[in-house]
Amino acid sequence: MQTYTSFSDPYGHWSAKWDTLPEAVRAKTIALNIADLEFITPPSVRAAVIGAAEHGRYGYTEIFDDFLQAAVSWQTKCHEWTPMVSQAVFFPRIILAVGTIVAKLLPTQPKLVTLTPAYDPILEVFRENGAKIEFVPLANQGDRYEIDMGQLAITLADADVFLLTNPHNPTGKVFSSNELAELGKLIDSHPNLMVLSDDIHADFVWDEHRYEPLARYAPASWESGRLIQFTSPGKTFAMAGAEAAVAFTGSDELKIRLEHAKRQMGIHNPNYFAVPAAIAAWGEESDWLTQIKAAVRNNLDYSQERLNQIPGFKVLPTEGTFLQWVDGTEAGFNIEKQQQVMELTNVLFSMGFGFGNFANFFRLNAAIEPKIYREAIERLLIEIPRVISAK
Ligand SMILES: Cc1ncc(COP(=O)(O)O)c(C=O)c1O
Repeated sequence: MQTYTSFSDPYGHWSAKWDTLPEAVRAKTIALNIADLEFITPPSVRAAVIGAAEHGRYGYTEIFDDFLQAAVSWQTKCHEWTPMVSQAVFFPRIILAVGTIVAKLLPTQPKLVTLTPAYDPILEVFRENGAKIEFVPLANQGDRYEIDMGQLAITLADADVFLLTNPHNPTGKVFSSNELAELGKLIDSHPNLMVLSDDIHADFVWDEHRYEPLARYAPASWESGRLIQFTSPGKTFAMAGAEAAVAFTGSDELKIRLEHAKRQMGIHNPNYFAVPAAIAAWGEESDWLTQIKAAVRNNLDYSQERLNQIPGFKVLPTEGTFLQWVDGTEAGFNIEKQQQVMELTNVLFSMGFGFGNFANFFRLNAAIEPKIYREAIERLLIEIPRVISAK
């Protein structure tokens, strides 16, 4: 059986995560920060990209239904949800789709409501466009992060746009059918609210948790063209740099508005390699993803158990995503101590302050060969207690 989970030399390909590291630390660094997979993309995707490369005519491209159909078929196969091909819209990246929506579909200086902690690059798009952002905390209630529905209802009252990330980055929360039903009811009761559901992590869901699209629970928002659901093969198939994403809508009119807004932004045709790579990914039938998921799952279990052994640390089970959100609040694991630990261990993680007011938290990316992940966790296990107890 072919093994797909081995780590390979990440340097020399303009990697945002690896090639930005100083030469002196490269050999000893384990980077568990930026959230893309440290696995080689499936053979079918590589073959599609190599085939495209060998063709050698890298001219302008177009989106045809085969790309949108591949996106829909993946949803049907994996999530029992079949949005209409004719109502789906290509974007190179979700962040560009959000930028387009903020610039062209929303009122100027809109009020955005989202849950916190939150993946910041998309919020930055809102901030840079003058949006006012209000956060509703995902509070840690025992063994889960829960939405305060009462506060959300109040905060949404005068909002222009609500952004959901499902499964949630960084907490790893998967919104249950009950939660989605409540959310659906709430957003359906706001006839002027635009809702964006960023479901890029949907293919990584663990245990009894099940990813479901918000669209299923918010028929009024979906059918009236006020709900957009994003997907992308970027995370799932280790091809974030290929830049292919889809905005699913439930309305012909919203599709037309999105296509028009996209043109206004000067975004039309995809990168030459994006479409063949995405079609191959969504048509993937090998055991590649099964192997990847088994490795990630193993890693998440390992770090949850080990990091929970540090006094004052709390790690809840990751319900979805390949990320682990670690709470070092009781141990006072603040920004300075986090920096010290990264310097001492050469293990890089995403510091919690980047996700909002969470300076004592950090996020690990568990999508890497288990041997390397365990090495990283063991380095953390040695240095974190030392740094915490040092004056
Ligand atoms: C929740 C979430 N949305 C979107 C993205 C990025 O998507 P894209 O590259 O399509 O903009 C990420 C990447 O980390 C993410 O975690």
